[in-house]
Amino acid sequence: MHALSVHGLTKRFPGVLALDSVDFGVAPGEVHALIGENGAGKSTLIKVLTGVHGPDEGEVRYGGERVEFATPLAAQRAGISTIYQEVNLVPLMSVARNLHLGREPRSRLGLIDFSRMHREATETLREYGVRADVRRPLGELGVGAQQMVALARAVSVEARVVIMDEPTSSLEPREVETLFGVIRRLREQGVAVVYVSHRLDELYAVCDAVTVLRDGRRVHTGPLAELERLRLVSLMLGREIGEVRAEGTTKFGGEHAAAAVEPVLRAEGLSVPHQLHGVSFEVRPGEVVGLGGLLGSGRTETVKAVSGALALSEGRVTVAGAPLRSGSPPAAIRAGVSLLPEDRKTEGIVPGLSVRENIALAVLPRLSRGGLVSEARIDALVETFMKRLRIKASSPRQKAGELSGGNQQKVLLARWLATEPKVLLLDEPTRGIDVGAKAEVQKLIDELADNGLGVLLISSDLEELIEGSDRVVVLRDGAVVGELSGDEVTEDRLMEAIAAAAEDPAGAESPADAESPADAESPADAEADPPAHAGADVPGDAGADVPGDAAQDGPRDGAPDTPQDAAPGTPRSAAQGTPPGSAPRTSQKSGQEPSARAAEEAPHG
Ligand SMILES: Nc1ncnc2c1ncn2[C@@H]1O[C@H](COP(=O)(O)OP(=O)(O)OP(=O)(O)O)[C@@H](O)[C@H]1O
Ligand SMILES: [Mg+2]
Repeated sequence: MHALSVHGLTKRFPGVLALDSVDFGVAPGEVHALIGENGAGKSTLIKVLTGVHGPDEGEVRYGGERVEFATPLAAQRAGISTIYQEVNLVPLMSVARNLHLGREPRSRLGLIDFSRMHREATETLREYGVRADVRRPLGELGVGAQQMVALARAVSVEARVVIMDEPTSSLEPREVETLFGVIRRLREQGVAVVYVSHRLDELYAVCDAVTVLRDGRRVHTGPLAELERLRLVSLMLGREIGEVRAEGTTKFGGEHAAAAVEPVLRAEGLSVPHQLHGVSFEVRPGEVVGLGGLLGSGRTETVKAVSGALALSEGRVTVAGAPLRSGSPPAAIRAGVSLLPEDRKTEGIVPGLSVRENIALAVLPRLSRGGLVSEARIDALVETFMKRLRIKASSPRQKAGELSGGNQQKVLLARWLATEPKVLLLDEPTRGIDVGAKAEVQKLIDELADNGLGVLLISSDLEELIEGSDRVVVLRDGAVVGELSGDEVTEDRLMEAIAAAAEDPAGAESPADAESPADAESPADAEADPPAHAGADVPGDAGADVPGDAAQDGPRDGAPDTPQDAAPGTPRSAAQGTPPGSAPRTSQKSGQEPSARAAEEAPHG
């Protein structure tokens, strides 16, 4: 019998049939993959299972009984623990508090026993490979470490069902292994697990069964091991295996003819105290240069230094022969440097604006002549990108905040690709994007490279880094420790280079080093979220007895800010910073500035 199931489930949003009489169930001790293209309905299904949305038709059964959870908190209390697509903890609260939210250990007087809470939190997190100071605000941790906290929290609750919506999108390979260990333990304990991911390798590594959704309909359910990978992709995309194979699904074209001319980007001796130590490399027009290394190796800092978000103490960046003023994102943008930031949730989508406006934000200066913007040109550009990236929206006028998680990512990607930059800095460009669209993104990047663009690529997906890069510069502790090019760019060689780095005892072995300072999201980011966010928007994440309650018990359906997945709520700060009518320059800046502030104020290093 299923631990949790839905029967004939239908869910509509204005203009969209998100789920169309879907049957789905997960048994105790089973790890069930739920897959489908961006916008197929995965997150919506999870939200109906967990009481974020009510069903329009059909029913949910839990332990065989018909249920209708009024709120995610009710589902959580009944034993259904969920990690939603976006980490939705409270960035300003301490790591320990986030972990224990609503279940804080108390003294006999009923006061929170902080020392015990800190001790327990430290121990729990160590099992997950996170060695952070648990008294610091959660927002200071990197995205991956935050995801591990969400995981630890979900699992530490006595749960009969654990649901994970893209839990690995921000995790490093090592963290993914930890996660898999946790999932296997849950399976042994007879917990039912629902697992959503776009990384097919992971599904095969950890899942027993699979259900494929396509356009809101269930198109396949069965054991996973028996299903060949290409067949799985063709089920997802609704195309024949031959077509899928011909398209080559997930790889960059590789091999760009890098012209033997002046590099488009030159980094010379980039240094920032405690973070970067004399990092030098070049990117020639037409080249994709990957940055390899572990968390905390300095990849994100390198990209931030190039984008002006991090001021240099020494060294310089040159774009197309002209030196860049250090520490100035606007100067970098003017010089033709575009950054697709890692943390798109706080640095990206403006949920209240239309898809069209979100895409056009950064290109308005180019499309306007004498202050007049040609609407027709914008329409044409938006249409091109929506088509190429297969952005699923009811129309270009739909609010970006209503799109599925992956489709929001595509909108951001479109925004930066459309600027036709000279240098494109991509921090995890295909995170959360389905295999079909990933192929499109990679093709687009290839084309841009062939037209002379220089690309600097960071990806925790090793395969993507290897397939995508003409050269890989390997970093450790903020310094370049190796470079692979041509035939050397293989998984083995890269693993070797990274492992050599990890073996050094002073190096990344100490996760404390690795987790906290490097990719720290910084208090600046945290502050950018209005504190109200904690209450009003932190929606369903695990039974927040404290601040989440208001949201969880609040109106659920149709409320614009309900679910966690979509950007709703989150980038409100961005929305405020970027009113529709604001000057395009400013708009573009707002995409990058938070990281600038983050960089300046964060206790990096
Ligand atoms: N609050 C909402 N308002 C309007 N439409 C919505 C809302 N939430 C989801 N949708 C629509 O429902 C459909 C399914 O979205 P859902 O988020 O379930 O997709 P998904 O399979 O999780 O995709 P992804 O892989 O991108 O996360 C999409 O067309 C989406 O635009
Ligand atoms: Mg989703």
